[in-house]
Amino acid sequence: MTPSDPITRPKVTVRTIRDMKAERVKIVSVTAYDYPTARLADEAGVDLILVGDSLGMVVLGYESTIPVTMPEMAHHLKAVVRAQPKALVVADLPFLSFQTSAEDAVRNSGRLMKRGAEAVKLEGGRRMLPQIQAILAADIPVLGHLGLTPQSVHQFGGYRVQGRGQGAADALLDDAIALERAGCFAIVLEGVPLELGQAITAAVGIPTIGIGAGIDCDGQVLVLHDLIGLSFGKPARFVRRYAETGDTIRSAVAAFREDVRSGRYPSREESYAAAPEKPANKS
Ligand code: KIV
Repeated sequence: MTPSDPITRPKVTVRTIRDMKAERVKIVSVTAYDYPTARLADEAGVDLILVGDSLGMVVLGYESTIPVTMPEMAHHLKAVVRAQPKALVVADLPFLSFQTSAEDAVRNSGRLMKRGAEAVKLEGGRRMLPQIQAILAADIPVLGHLGLTPQSVHQFGGYRVQGRGQGAADALLDDAIALERAGCFAIVLEGVPLELGQAITAAVGIPTIGIGAGIDCDGQVLVLHDLIGLSFGKPARFVRRYAETGDTIRSAVAAFREDVRSGRYPSREESYAAAPEKPANKS
């Protein structure tokens, strides 16, 4: 991926994302939860910025995504939207914002759209069809999410790969086909065997965006903080670290501490004088 000029590159829409499958261009997506990371990801040329409910674990320090609320999602979404990304901005529907009824699903999707989201993502397959259909009927684009859906962690008994075994694989395949028929513009496939990622990608006409779902998906998404080394704990098998930003921050702050303690910071040049400085001589 080459960085692209956010001023000149065209706005990515759900249609762009859908068309990328036919064009055989891999979709690149990362999460962002604030203004600077949204700007940097957009300047790097990603196609889709996901304001994921992973923000609960990644930047709010929760144990899972389950405590994340609609006001928290809205707060972070608004910061991302202020970066005016050319990438498509998709916001997650947090736990219990849509499972309760189709009406809740539409109302909460609408809240996210009014704050600048261009599509919503929700976890679940055929069981969530009434919600998905209702959201789509309100002309709100929906990104599906199947496999290791983190909001179901307790039902799964942990963060376990899903779709292992023929029955489970067939069920996920049927879910994917149902989401396509309902009108989702793409599907995130999380934590499934690569063979199933390949089978689902081949079976549906809409793009699959994988995270721990193998190489054959139509695109890949990673949590930005995992990718840049700004998350804690053992990373999942599928995470590739492209930077060690955590180390960079730690040593920068430690260097600042040393400079303050030793009196090396601030210097005279980093201080203001009582008399205003003369403008620089232009000759
Ligand atoms: O919340 C999130 O960041 C996600 C991605 C991991 C797909 O759902």
